[in-house]
Amino acid sequence: MASLRVDLGPRSYSILIGDGSSKEGIAALPRLLKGKKIAVVTNPVVSRLFAGKTLRLLRKAGFKPSVITLPDGERYKTIQHLARIYDGLIEGHFDRADAILALGGGVVGDMAGFAAATYMRGIDFVQFPTTLLAQVDSSVGGKTGIDYPGGKNIVGAFYQPRLVVCDLSALKTLPEREYRCGMAEVIKYGVIRDARFFAWLEGNIKEVAARKTAALETIIRKSCACKGAVVAADEREADIRAILNFGHTFAHGIETALDYKRIKHGEAVAIGMVLAGRLSYSLGLIPQKTAERVKRLIAAYGLPTSLPTDLSPAEVVEGMAHDKKIISGAWRFVVYDRIGNAYVKDGLSRSEIAAAIRL
Ligand code: NAD
Ligand code: GLY
Repeated sequence: MASLRVDLGPRSYSILIGDGSSKEGIAALPRLLKGKKIAVVTNPVVSRLFAGKTLRLLRKAGFKPSVITLPDGERYKTIQHLARIYDGLIEGHFDRADAILALGGGVVGDMAGFAAATYMRGIDFVQFPTTLLAQVDSSVGGKTGIDYPGGKNIVGAFYQPRLVVCDLSALKTLPEREYRCGMAEVIKYGVIRDARFFAWLEGNIKEVAARKTAALETIIRKSCACKGAVVAADEREADIRAILNFGHTFAHGIETALDYKRIKHGEAVAIGMVLAGRLSYSLGLIPQKTAERVKRLIAAYGLPTSLPTDLSPAEVVEGMAHDKKIISGAWRFVVYDRIGNAYVKDGLSRSEIAAAIRL
């Protein structure tokens, strides 16, 4: 089992990664948490698969667990369903010593984390992510929140977990499309920070696609190491953390234009990374063959690399104009000047972006 540390002073925490690591993770909780009550926040799909074992291990570790089940899906990442978590905590007489365990993908993790950040002005929480996307991205770094009319993740807080436990065995049941979406974020880390990892992903496509344990451990460890280091350097996204949004501004433009239907976030990120490559090329930062190399890897993992035929570049640009990362009208994008080195480029014009998409 691998163990990484996210170094944030008093808010530092470990990430445990391994096949069956929930056992060790739960055994470690009595040392990390003050109280005995723990609310497992989950959804029906994940609950059916993993709640029984999680509750057994929690009881064995001396906890009194209860379960709060949210409906499955991004459309329930709302203030009304957040209230269900508060209701469950109040009914269970949770106090400031008690804790929340998020058991699920990014939707459950973001909501459970935000409930933990706000219930009684903050109680402990731990992340037990069960999707690839949550294991390599959303469970690490402390971004928590909900969607609200007017924006996705627009209400939220930075609030770090006390522990993250990535149990590789959870990924066996993950639908193929969800797995591929997580791979978009994995490829992102190679492009933005780690050229050797990028090359490793090129050389191990079969093992990763087959979800071999050793390959899973490598991709999750490398991804979490990258994310943890970036977050440790800039917890609140004042600066370098923005590189984690590589491909995401384009992705949000695509998702907005499609009204968040038909396409999954990871698929939009995949196309977004290809567009960010075109932008980097059109700004003269990389040769075309570098952008093509990134595109080839994205395609090799079964992800889309071009816009749906019925979506025009103009519609994507219009969709991006509403992104909360386009700060006060300034167009800010993450570009790269070689594989393994991304940075934020400010002050781009709308027409430069539109031209890059059309390339
Ligand atoms: P998700 O949580 O909706 O999970 C995807 C689907 O997989 C769901 O139907 C879920 O029930 C199912 N599932 C979960 N684990 C499973 C398993 N082991 N086996 C079978 N099915 C399983 O989606 P996601 O992609 O994990 O997360 C997306 C969310 O994460 C979005 O709301 C996004 O905003 C958020 N996010 C947050 C951050 C962050 O830094 N906080 C980063 C990226 C994304
Ligand atoms: N997912 C981007 C971030 O955590 O900053």
